[in-house]
Amino acid sequence: MIRGNGIDIIEVDRIQKAVERWGDAFLNYVFTDAEIKSARRFKFPYLHYAGRFAAKEAIFKAMGIPHLSWHDVTITNDPEGKPVCHFNNMEFKKKILISISHSRDYAIASAIVEG
Ligand SMILES: CC(C)(COP(=O)(O)OP(=O)(O)OC[C@H]1O[C@@H](n2cnc3c(N)ncnc32)[C@H](O)[C@@H]1OP(=O)(O)O)[C@@H](O)C(=O)NCCC(=O)NCCS
Repeated sequence: MIRGNGIDIIEVDRIQKAVERWGDAFLNYVFTDAEIKSARRFKFPYLHYAGRFAAKEAIFKAMGIPHLSWHDVTITNDPEGKPVCHFNNMEFKKKILISISHSRDYAIASAIVEG
């Protein structure tokens, strides 16, 4: 049964500017170590940061739980590249399905809560 649905879009440029301005302080505020390590494997990591930023916002909307923090969720990729959501330091029994896409200028993500 579908319990929640969320979507978010972000300009890749906004994330790039934030990283250029605030550096690791911004990255560590929004992303977990695993997410930063994963994005840094790419020549242009901002697409991946933007995709994860949008995915986290979409998850927050889908879950409808106030006061979630950026570090409560880590987004990784399975061996085929499909994004997968993990919760840190909190129990959430329902399954979250996410999807991410990015073009040159925008990243978009959706999240569905199932269970
Ligand atoms: C999966 C696929 C549809 C992605 O399309 P795309 O236009 O290149 O990618 P988009 O820019 O729209 O989206 C990129 C995001 O798609 C997601 N993605 C990648 N592979 C995926 C998959 N197999 N299933 C679902 N989502 C996937 C990722 O979240 C990725 O962003 P991230 O790397 O920053 O996490 C495309 O690569 C494809 O059709 N591949 C064929 C199947 C394939 O090669 N599988 C890999 C086997 S190892």
